Amino acid sequence: MTTVRALCIKVPRGEAEFTRKKLLEQNLLDIGLRIRRQGDVVLFPVRSEKAAELGFELVEEDLEEREVMVTDYRLVAKLPDEVRALLPTSFDIIGDVAIIRLGDDLVEHASEIGKALMTTFPRLRTIALDRGVKGELRVRELQVIAGDPDAETVHVEHGIRLRVDPTKVYFNPRLANERRRIASLVRAGERVVDMFSGVGPFAIMIAKHSRPEAIWAMDLNHDAVEYMRRNIQLNKVTTVIPLEGDSADLLFRVPCADRIIMNLPHSARDFFADALTRLNMGGVIHLYVICERDEISDVAIGLATEARGMGVRVGMERIEELKTYSPTMSVFALDIRFLDWC
Ligand SMILES: C[S@@+](CC[C@H](N)C(=O)[O-])C[C@H]1O[C@@H](n2cnc3c(N)ncnc32)[C@H](O)[C@@H]1O
Repeated sequence: MTTVRALCIKVPRGEAEFTRKKLLEQNLLDIGLRIRRQGDVVLFPVRSEKAAELGFELVEEDLEEREVMVTDYRLVAKLPDEVRALLPTSFDIIGDVAIIRLGDDLVEHASEIGKALMTTFPRLRTIALDRGVKGELRVRELQVIAGDPDAETVHVEHGIRLRVDPTKVYFNPRLANERRRIASLVRAGERVVDMFSGVGPFAIMIAKHSRPEAIWAMDLNHDAVEYMRRNIQLNKVTTVIPLEGDSADLLFRVPCADRIIMNLPHSARDFFADALTRLNMGGVIHLYVICERDEISDVAIGLATEARGMGVRVGMERIEELKTYSPTMSVFALDIRFLDWC
């Protein structure tokens, strides 16, 4: 271990723990060096002479370097304490790009927060501020706040690799387990339609882990379909058929399906009746919906009633809350099986 001459404060042992916390809070502790005990005092390596304001003697001593294992970026960010307390505890990572949401009080500190994330997670190449998902194509408005301005990256989940530029296409890394679940349900020879496929994560996951006859994967966003084409090659899958356009039309140009995936949570319900007319008896629709948590039963009843109006009896095989969307709303996954004609 290397020893370096470092600026420290000398603190009586009895005050060491309190002082350590104070130094961390004020981002004055030099976490790259080891704290040393010397008789009745403790030597704390500090980042600046400002640490003397805590009332202890400032000295120079030889201290050992240590591997930095700080995993909480909030301790690294050079911010006033009242601002630090507001920092979010979580953020999304797509490949080597981090996407973070900040409240109004934090936006002016975005660049410092970006720097802290890059220091804490050296694997990250780009940090982007999330300004919300917009429009029909559901693309996130992102502002790069630290690192490489090019946000294109390769994301890995459950054995598939997805090239994606989150500034041009929708992609949600939090759905990885849901995609794996759907892939595990697909039987050999199934015909699958993915109506809102984005860069192809559901379709490619299914093609990689199951043996469908084909997956027709549709999207309105030209960039998403281009990335899907690249991802098909990247993963060497042969059963995904990418289609660019409105799935309300495309649905009627492909064969009826045994399974239809409808991952457009704000408006998938509007496409439900059309999807049902293209589903084989015994098949399943995986429909994703955002609604008030206490209204999900009404949503399910509404869909079953709509199906009955079309002469189809459906079974709600599974209703699962996937993630919270707001204090009162969540995203739900519904598995709806075409049971019979009625
Ligand atoms: C919530 S994203 C889901 C993407 C993908 N399934 C995923 O998990 O990453 C919804 C996608 O539907 C596409 N979209 C919206 N309306 C559409 C339509 N009428 N026809 C086809 N695609 C549509 C958007 O461009 C977007 O890529």
